[in-house]
Amino acid sequence: MSAPPLLSRLTRRGRLMAKRRCDRRAHAFTLGRFLFRTPTAWEYAAAVAGGSDPAAQRWLGWLPGSVVAEPMRGEALRVVPGTGPEWTTPDPHSVDVVALDLVAGRCAGLVSVHAGEDGGPETGGYLAPAYRGRGLGRELFAAGLALAHEHLGLTSVRAGAEIGNVASGRSLEAAGLRRVAGPPRYTLPDGRTCEAWWYRHDVPWPDRCGGPPAKWLG
Ligand SMILES: CC(C)(COP(=O)(O)OP(=O)(O)OC[C@H]1O[C@@H](n2cnc3c(N)ncnc32)[C@H](O)[C@@H]1OP(=O)(O)O)[C@@H](O)C(=O)NCCC(=O)NCCS
Repeated sequence: MSAPPLLSRLTRRGRLMAKRRCDRRAHAFTLGRFLFRTPTAWEYAAAVAGGSDPAAQRWLGWLPGSVVAEPMRGEALRVVPGTGPEWTTPDPHSVDVVALDLVAGRCAGLVSVHAGEDGGPETGGYLAPAYRGRGLGRELFAAGLALAHEHLGLTSVRAGAEIGNVASGRSLEAAGLRRVAGPPRYTLPDGRTCEAWWYRHDVPWPDRCGGPPAKWLG
């Protein structure tokens, strides 16, 4: 006999909350103070809300339809990790994991490995306001490197930051990326072009985990 709907929902929830390792549906790994995991729909909404404030949008430049406005933003930021239905990213060229603060019971940010403008793999991400300015960007971007090299089998990954985004540049370097030459500009989703600093990280022997592969990488 199958479980009644509520019980089955709670069971699914419990499984998600307990997930600490990759399986074919999700990536999951711990780094520093966060658990990084393929988000549920609600966790993804919380992460997007965490990048929707004007200070973050100054650098992220999303299309207006992607930005979560108040009062929804505050509401979404209160999502409890482990809740919400399974979810599939709308962007087939991106593997996203959310940073979950299981002590505070909050979604702290998101980091991805995605196809850059030239199709090559890039990492990038953001933290919710309450998690910025505390040196946690280093852990966020170190998780981007772990995702690229230890889960997706990439020998090389790069990252761009707008010139002047010192917090981003310093966090990327603190995570281990080094400054390299690159295209002078890149374009944000809202169409604004900005001058770029580029960073890169390489490993000789990358690994693949049992989690969902990045299909666009082949
Ligand atoms: C980018 C981001 C992930 C960085 O993480 P963070 O933990 O908040 O970074 P911090 O504020 O701790 O800054 C990192 C370093 O830069 C320094 N720094 C930050 N802003 C600075 C400034 N304006 N001038 C000089 N130094 C600055 C910090 O003092 C810190 O120095 P340290 O390495 O000596 O400790 C986070 O700020 C964020 O999500 N920002 C909004 C979205 C965004 O910009 N995403 C990246 C797009 S490329």
